[in-house]
Amino acid sequence: MDTCFGIDIGGTGIKGAPVDTAAGRLLHERLRLLTPQPSAPEAVLEVVGDIVTRFSWRGPVGVTFPGVVVDGVTRTAANVDRGWIDLDARRLLAEALHAPVTLVNDADAAGMAEMRFGAGRGRRGTVLVLTFGTGIGSALFHNGVLVPNTEFGHLELHGRKAEHHASGNVREEHDLSWEQWAHRVSHYLRYLEMLFSPSLFVIGGGVSKKADKFLPHVRHVRAEIVPAALHNDAGIVGAALAAQALRGDAPLPQFPTGVPDAANSRESPEP
Ligand code: BGC
Repeated sequence: MDTCFGIDIGGTGIKGAPVDTAAGRLLHERLRLLTPQPSAPEAVLEVVGDIVTRFSWRGPVGVTFPGVVVDGVTRTAANVDRGWIDLDARRLLAEALHAPVTLVNDADAAGMAEMRFGAGRGRRGTVLVLTFGTGIGSALFHNGVLVPNTEFGHLELHGRKAEHHASGNVREEHDLSWEQWAHRVSHYLRYLEMLFSPSLFVIGGGVSKKADKFLPHVRHVRAEIVPAALHNDAGIVGAALAAQALRGDAPLPQFPTGVPDAANSRESPEP
């Protein structure tokens, strides 16, 4: 069986579980611990180590991060401690876990999992996977190929960042009804539609389980809109998919694992 461990670091919680990467499902109920506050790198690394240890896991670990990740280096930190900015986090994680580690953006991971096993499976054309949680994450695909680190949650909407207007947390903090929140989401989706003309929006994050409460109120969007099939587990599954490349399997096309060595460049033709 193809098995890797997936860890999804979020602004609020850190979740992990071993994953059957061929079937795209968790092999064990996930463990969720609170993200330490402040979420400084050392404190988060400790929690990640704790989760991996509690499963007695040995082997490759895929980790997601809620910010831009380029070649394993975390470049931004909108919803976590600023100590993550320009940190070689993949290397630190590998040292802390004594294991090979891949590191990717959280929404990119969730998007890859949805495209492979969930609501985007087999879908060609332009697909936008959005996660509504502490922030808004985005993963843009064309014919199944990911454009990493798109960060569409930071587009400006009504004079502020979209994620400060329409994230899952904003709905809770401002006590918005599902209908009121759906109204904000509609504006956001129409804006994205104007820019990218996707044929499909996949709505992920915790809210995906409550799709029946808000999707009927999302209006005037041309593209099809569906909830994520893997719900909040998509990040864990996507993280494990990225780590699968460390097992010597062919990496998924265009999935930046954060490993700048052979595992990530195996697809390149020999010179
Ligand atoms: C971050 C993204 C992340 C999203 C969801 C945003 O604030 O900039 O990188 O994907 O939150 O966690």
